[in-house]
Amino acid sequence: MAGILQGLSYFIRTFGCQMNENDSERIAGLLEAEGASKADLIERSDLVIVNTCAVRAKAEEKLYSFLGRLAKQTRGRDTLVGVVGCVAQVQKAALWEKKRLVHFILGPGHYDLIPEIVRDKRRERILVTSQSRLWREWPAGRVLHSNPWSAFITIMEGCDNFCSYCVVPFARGREKFRPGRMILDEIRELARRGVREVQLLGQNVNSYRDPETGGTFPGLLEAVAALDGIEWIRFLTSHPRTFATDLALTMARNRKVCRQLHLPVQSGSDAVLERMQRGYGRREYLDKVRILRDLMPEISLSADIIVGFPGETEAEFEDTLRLLEEVRFANIFSFRYSPRPFAAAAREPDGVPLDVKRQRLVAVQSLQKAVQIDTHRSFLGRTLTVLCQGRSKKGAGSFAGRSEGNQVVNFSSEAEPEGPFVRVRVTSCGPYSLRGERSGPDPAGPIST
Ligand code: 5AD
Ligand code: SF4
Repeated sequence: MAGILQGLSYFIRTFGCQMNENDSERIAGLLEAEGASKADLIERSDLVIVNTCAVRAKAEEKLYSFLGRLAKQTRGRDTLVGVVGCVAQVQKAALWEKKRLVHFILGPGHYDLIPEIVRDKRRERILVTSQSRLWREWPAGRVLHSNPWSAFITIMEGCDNFCSYCVVPFARGREKFRPGRMILDEIRELARRGVREVQLLGQNVNSYRDPETGGTFPGLLEAVAALDGIEWIRFLTSHPRTFATDLALTMARNRKVCRQLHLPVQSGSDAVLERMQRGYGRREYLDKVRILRDLMPEISLSADIIVGFPGETEAEFEDTLRLLEEVRFANIFSFRYSPRPFAAAAREPDGVPLDVKRQRLVAVQSLQKAVQIDTHRSFLGRTLTVLCQGRSKKGAGSFAGRSEGNQVVNFSSEAEPEGPFVRVRVTSCGPYSLRGERSGPDPAGPIST
């Protein structure tokens, strides 16, 4: 049956987080269900969709430079351009003043409108950015997962926390939870098609409440772990304030839940955490880390760090460095603070000069680099289970994957791996990845490191 977009070619550019990646996979699924096909070049596409990120100023700037290049690439052609996602939601019609080439602007939650907007291609421009407190299920259909063995599953969207630096509650709206039966149906279907790893996504998965049954996140995790075929389960993001012991216990009890957790601390200073309105202090955070490590000694932890929050003193910044030394994260994502629209902290003077922010970022990153080199050395000679992600850029016989602890593992193998999981003996390492060679038979069943 021919769809309403038969013959149309599309190109999607995605900025930002895994949730945006997942939204783009769904948009691609919707378009292809209507007969459209993916173009390999912008110059050859009839439709360009830009899925945007508003979390930091830099991400938003990247959008404007992308649109600047796009105007040149599409000159003289009748390309339809849509901007969707968080910047669309926050900027609304102001985007048109900046970039005339944009035809439609859709906030998160309105992507099911895309096929008809594209089919009608009306003269007037379209803007839809209303927000709801209720979950809006996607139309049933394909999601074009980029990895055949691993899939993102959105379980909730939005945030009620209003950390003082953050635009997300304004971009993604208030918390909305997806019914558990829809989540489980989607995962069952993915498992049937060969997916072995799922990553449950939400701005704050800890606050998950099944809108139909009242079930909590640990319950959902248990239900996912009970599904045949699923071997590895990850989830993000967990807010440290609401990360409770029952979730740590559920993780420890279920061997399918990867020994890995992203627990963004943001700062090591109590005073800064207070000004950020994070709702926990340094001690509480460290207590949670201790509980996790008592229960799962091998767990690898990661975090986000913001440097240069308004008024951050040298001593407060030092507290962050000391926390990094104490926790020894497997990985961190570190950022310079930037004021964001609607966020409470943006009403205060930015305070910390740019060069100080830069120096602090370098200090955080070089400390963390040393920690990672050291941690990675402890893996030398060990054999890890790795979920393959495909060929690596390093040439023939080189492949890439991730370990249970979410480390990037590059490995050599004579034959292209057939299955999702392989065993790799680690032979060398750098600060950001491990290297090794395929070793022994591929694992068949449940996984251990
Ligand atoms: N400035 C810098 N970093 C920010 N983040 C969120 N808002 C800002 C901001 N205004 C970071 C936080 C968050 C991650 C997704 O982005 O560390 O956890
Ligand atoms: Fe932003 Fe805080 Fe919500 Fe995370 S928890 S999305 S940092 S407001």
